[in-house]
Amino acid sequence: MMAQIIDGKSFAARLRLRIAADVVTLASRGITPGLAVVLVGEDPASQVYVRSKGRMTREVGMTSFEHRLPAETDQETLLALIAQLNADAAVNGILVQLPLPPHMDEAAVINAIAPDKDVDGFHILNVGRLATGQKAMVPCTPLGCLMLLRDHLGTLSGRNAVVIGRSNIVGKPMAQLLLRDSATVTVAHSRTADLPALCRQADILVAAVGRPNFVQGAWIKPGATVIDVGINRTEEGLVGDVHQASAMPVAGALTPVPGGVGPMTIACLLANTLTATRRAAGLPDPEGLTP
Ligand code: GUN
Repeated sequence: MMAQIIDGKSFAARLRLRIAADVVTLASRGITPGLAVVLVGEDPASQVYVRSKGRMTREVGMTSFEHRLPAETDQETLLALIAQLNADAAVNGILVQLPLPPHMDEAAVINAIAPDKDVDGFHILNVGRLATGQKAMVPCTPLGCLMLLRDHLGTLSGRNAVVIGRSNIVGKPMAQLLLRDSATVTVAHSRTADLPALCRQADILVAAVGRPNFVQGAWIKPGATVIDVGINRTEEGLVGDVHQASAMPVAGALTPVPGGVGPMTIACLLANTLTATRRAAGLPDPEGLTP
């Protein structure tokens, strides 16, 4: 039997429709959610992301504010812009596109964003809130993975989850979210001993290593749910961290690349912007869009 394909593209499209409907409801109260995206420098991949973020923000009826600064911008100037966005009531969410140029202190920049507008969930306060089970802004990619997992599996309670990758953007927050849903979580990384054997224990396998076709079908527990977070540009085109051809006959379900986790990330950015807007207005969180 071949794995069921988890269609993140259509899930994300439905999510955006839901968000757009909520934006219409907010409009009747005179509220329009606003998302500010800040891009420093001319990194081509970042430019593509920022463009599609702006387009999808407008498509769901939100206001998109785009700030493009040259690569040689000094940190003071960027911090001044962030302070201005923090104080602007029309801006509910702020995203500073990473990576920043090497002369900037990434942590200092992220921690300058007002925590309640930090729609990336990267601010130290949001990281701490997530880790301690408090109401937080949650990083978009892991939030999208969680939504797909819950939709496919129902409860995650008691399942063995292995997350490959320990980044602040995906691996660590993913582990926190799985733990919060009562999965038994192991975080693996480049120094993990016998990674294939560890992966074969996983009912849920999340691959976020950034290495093309890294996870082999022989590493996968038959019937497991496999979430492929990788987006690797190779000569064969866009491929994930999971070797899809060998994974397909073994896994129970699998997210494709492209069309799996990728589209969920921007949809969750919009979900977070909606959540931030509702919280700022003293309204309850949107149903099903927060962990
Ligand atoms: N660069 C790559 N992924 C991300 C992300 O999720 N947020 C931001 N701000 N920058 C990124």
